[in-house]
Amino acid sequence: MPDRKKIVVITGAGISAESGLSTFRDSGGLWEGYDIHEVASIEGWRKDPETVLNFYNLRRKQALKAKPNKAHKALAHLQNYYDVQIITQNVDNLHEKAGSDRVLHLHGELNKAKSSEVDDHVIEIGDRPIKIGDKAADGSQLRPHVVWFGEMVPNLEIAAEMTSKADILIVIGTSLVVYPAAGLIDYVKNGSDKFIIDPSEPEFRDLREWQHIKEKAGIGTPKLVENLITKVKETD
Ligand code: OAD
Repeated sequence: MPDRKKIVVITGAGISAESGLSTFRDSGGLWEGYDIHEVASIEGWRKDPETVLNFYNLRRKQALKAKPNKAHKALAHLQNYYDVQIITQNVDNLHEKAGSDRVLHLHGELNKAKSSEVDDHVIEIGDRPIKIGDKAADGSQLRPHVVWFGEMVPNLEIAAEMTSKADILIVIGTSLVVYPAAGLIDYVKNGSDKFIIDPSEPEFRDLREWQHIKEKAGIGTPKLVENLITKVKETD
């Protein structure tokens, strides 16, 4: 059997929208109701940690109750036919719940917490809220294991390396306006097939080399996955 083709899938909030989780920048999205600088920046954390904890406690509660939708499930199925690596900006765990084995989180994970002093002291907290006074092993206040504006993205380099090896790149449900994550698509090699699934017209780039599937993730992803599986079966 020939080597499996490598597929990298970059996902954003749009893939979880049909699971009931809000996106950030759509109308009615999270950044309409919250000040991004207050709840998602290191300055916001220093100024008012309680507001930040409350914001992520609510996100965690909602995300951990949510169920994977048809898009997450289709991607999990795809790994039976291709070498699939998911790179997600999402802090929910819906790809894992759907059964995807290789998921790299760029912006952290809601079900984990970390020391506010030492970046790699990470613990699992499941669906528990973090409160002021909850301490990490080093005695510092626990904080959400999420990447805030103004912070480094520790998994960026490995994500760029993965993207550079993709034969097929699929982008689902992200406005791709937040850097450095948005810059990942520039690492894809010439000649790779590039798909974007998003009901809106993406404004991020010249899309001439991309195939735009202008549908919601729950419709567009299973269709694309079916086509990709048919292709692999034809060549086997
Ligand atoms: P955005 O809210 O910026 O973009 C969501 C994208 O999903 C838009 O392009 C929508 O058109 C699309 N969309 C909406 N519903 C969809 C559906 N049902 N199916 C498919 N697509 C749909 O979210 P992100 O790009 O993920 O970072 O945002 C990137 C980062 O900005 C987040 O990781 C977060 C945020 O600030 C941090 O908190 C560090």
